[in-house]
Amino acid sequence: MSDVTIIDEQHSVLVKMFSKLNEAVKNNESRQVIYQIIDEVISFTRSHFTNEEQIMLNTTYPEIESHRKMHKELVDEALHLKSKFDYVDELAFRDWLNHWPLGRVLAHIKYADQHFEDFLAEKGIE
Ligand SMILES: [Fe+2]
Ligand SMILES: [Fe+2]
Repeated sequence: MSDVTIIDEQHSVLVKMFSKLNEAVKNNESRQVIYQIIDEVISFTRSHFTNEEQIMLNTTYPEIESHRKMHKELVDEALHLKSKFDYVDELAFRDWLNHWPLGRVLAHIKYADQHFEDFLAEKGIE
């Protein structure tokens, strides 16, 4: 499978996981169910970021450092938010979910990752 295909497929898995999380929140699923989905999202996101950074290394992407920093910020933010869930009541918990950085991850895929894919295309890497 080509690098671009791998990245694109992982992005579409991520988008599906996000909508699963949104659905769970909308359907008022228990915290346990939502926690589990959040754990899955974080773990998949981390392995995707690692994959993407490896491809950047292999292809000598000049903006790898700033891109890596964005990945780290997104993961740190998610972990930070998650670490607070245990200490808030139900109402605050639902409210916290609205601050989940899903939108920022999607924006990252749309802009920063697209920028990398454009670089790969320019280099003729599929
Ligand atoms: Fe990505
Ligand atoms: Fe990325």
